Amino acid sequence: MSLKKEDLEYFNRRIFENKKFWNRLGGEPDLKGKTVLDVGCGHGGLCVDMAAADAKKVVGVDLERERILFAKENLRLNYPQYTGIVEFYEIDLKDYDAGEQFDYIVSKDSFEHIIDLPGMMEEMKRRLKPGGLLYVGFGPLYNDYYGDHKRTECIIPWGHVLFSDEKIIKRLNKNKQTPIQSIIELGVNQLSLADYRRIFKESGFEMTFFKVNASNNLILRTFDLISWIFPFLKEYFAHNIYAIFKKMS
Ligand SMILES: C[S@@+](CC[C@H](N)C(=O)[O-])C[C@H]1O[C@@H](n2cnc3c(N)ncnc32)[C@H](O)[C@@H]1O
Repeated sequence: MSLKKEDLEYFNRRIFENKKFWNRLGGEPDLKGKTVLDVGCGHGGLCVDMAAADAKKVVGVDLERERILFAKENLRLNYPQYTGIVEFYEIDLKDYDAGEQFDYIVSKDSFEHIIDLPGMMEEMKRRLKPGGLLYVGFGPLYNDYYGDHKRTECIIPWGHVLFSDEKIIKRLNKNKQTPIQSIIELGVNQLSLADYRRIFKESGFEMTFFKVNASNNLILRTFDLISWIFPFLKEYFAHNIYAIFKKMS
């Protein structure tokens, strides 16, 4: 299998963002000799980077076949030095039996796509060593300006929250061969900032770091200012979440 140019370009863009991911979480942890699970690994860019940072073992799991096929082939062709360290699986985490618990779990830009997030966090907890850490960063949140990832095809920012789900589904179904019944079928979980806060609180993890709108980006600083002046608008100006969780012993 040869790698498509557009997939390689996408992979390289994602690799470029890894530094930002760790910076927003306060810096990359020391991965030397550690075992790491990446949930929603996509094309595998973070996995390869973590192997380069001397992790002992890195496992990437994702539901999308094409992404995992790319990740495996890219590893074979372009990163043969990490074969035996990095593994990729197209699998639902609940069906993945690692046979061991990991030091760290990471999930980059995936939580907003995971439909059963409480169930996923439970599965993550089971696969972490006591005291192990879960690093998470993701966005945009659903109520943000393009929090639908433009999948509802609303052309104006916040259009997907201004119109009812029923109206959006009716419009989308006019052009679809297989009609959808709900927005989550578009691959976004529709969770609000308040939902995430509740799910994290109830997850049974100890949350050691939590930041909304992590970035020095001027737009996000403006969002924070708007949320501070008009607290009732906070939901709509929450763009991303970066958080670290510890599995209690
Ligand atoms: C925006 S991509 C991010 C990929 C990668 N982490 C990166 O930063 O390049 C989101 C990924 O989450 C995956 N995903 C969504 N729900 C998932 C689930 N329940 N389990 C595993 N992966 C999931 C998707 O297939 C997709 O590859």
